[in-house]
Amino acid sequence: MTDALGPELLLELPGWGSRGRALEEALRSAIRGGRLVAGTRLPSSRDLASQLGLSRGTVTQAYEQLVAEGWLTARQGSGTRVAAGTAEAPARPGRSAEAAASGRYDLRPGRPDAYAFPREAWARAMRHVLREAPTEVFGFGDPRGRIELRTALASYLGRTRGVRVDPANLIVCSGYTQALGLLAEVFTELGVRTAGMEDPAIGDHVRLLAGRLRVAAVPVDAAGLRVDALRDSGAEVAVCTPAHQFPLGVSMAPERRSELLEWADDSLGWIVEDDYDGEFRYDRHPIAALQSRRPSRIVYAGSTSKTIGPAVRLGWIACPPLLLEPLTEAKRRARETRPLEQLALARMIELGDYDRHLRTMRRGYQRRRDTLVAAVRSGLPDARVRGIDAGLHALLELPSAPSERAVVEAARAASVDVHPLGEYMRGDRDRHPPSLVVGYATPPAHSYPAALDALIRGLRRL
Ligand SMILES: Cc1ncc(COP(=O)(O)O)c(C=O)c1O
Repeated sequence: MTDALGPELLLELPGWGSRGRALEEALRSAIRGGRLVAGTRLPSSRDLASQLGLSRGTVTQAYEQLVAEGWLTARQGSGTRVAAGTAEAPARPGRSAEAAASGRYDLRPGRPDAYAFPREAWARAMRHVLREAPTEVFGFGDPRGRIELRTALASYLGRTRGVRVDPANLIVCSGYTQALGLLAEVFTELGVRTAGMEDPAIGDHVRLLAGRLRVAAVPVDAAGLRVDALRDSGAEVAVCTPAHQFPLGVSMAPERRSELLEWADDSLGWIVEDDYDGEFRYDRHPIAALQSRRPSRIVYAGSTSKTIGPAVRLGWIACPPLLLEPLTEAKRRARETRPLEQLALARMIELGDYDRHLRTMRRGYQRRRDTLVAAVRSGLPDARVRGIDAGLHALLELPSAPSERAVVEAARAASVDVHPLGEYMRGDRDRHPPSLVVGYATPPAHSYPAALDALIRGLRRL
């Protein structure tokens, strides 16, 4: 018993695993089963630690994990509470409240878990910014973005991705998509006519470039972008995702990286490195960004769309010195990116909140990935899951399925929204068996097992 005045909680911890994992599971199960209803305030970490005879750190970590997974919310002033929509809907066992409400599960790629938005850290950073920011922040600023963020990013990107860049050569923009649009503008001004872009790739990105340049589809094989095809295409710019190809999930092999750099050196070509999910690598050490090997020819681009959420609309370009002036001018014409948000991100990085958030997310996504792999192995023995070393999506190959269209229809009939690989392909579609690009970050944690279950059951009917 404790003499604290906060709420008490009766919990029975399972006997297996670490005490932290056991506590997480006990809380999940109490919420899932409806014993802890939405809005219930939980004891403070100090009180629960003393009630259960655990260390306070163990309870704090378990709370953080469950906040990241969407079971709990943590707001300053109102403590830690059970999140809305987390109990299983009794009328339809196996389906979450969220899916029951919308009638569908979302396993499309491209989005992080919105339930895991770091509300507390973001609010703390934003409060600080609004209190402390100099008045000039409310006017027009440097088109490259706030120096506070460029300084924080230069050090963060060097530390975590091996990127070599001076804050003066960083341009903050409104996500990667804006960066790509600005690059298309600048390359056109510089007389570039053809850009080689990975095939498959995101259609919006292809169309964005195609508005200004001829876009050559460069196939990707198991080692990454095919540099022989890039050479043949006559492209002067290569746009690629070396850390984790989108959507195939291939990591560019060391020989292919060297070959690509040789291409840039021989032809004075530019490389655009889209490092959209480089922060999420699970089974091996992260590979440094390609930019670290040729900062003079590689435009490195990143974004908070996968790490925090697309709504934040922040991205950055580490700019080769030769492109700095025209890119800054293009960015000036497009207007500066939201300065208050820039300062908030700088603050999160400085306080270590960004790193902490990423560590929590990485753990959660890795667990989701493992669950996906295990579910496919046991439920669809003929299928293969590829591209799982990193990121928030995997390629699910279904060689024995009659067609990709049949796969998509079967998934949709099982109330699961998915994207077929064909949606991202421009060239020869027969290079790959029928496949789905499965985004495993989107369903809230409490409905994720049910979403996978629905997908597997749907595909088994094929
Ligand atoms: C391949 C790829 N590149 C870049 C991005 C990021 O784009 P943006 O920063 O405009 O949201 C995404 C999506 O998050 C993506 O899937």
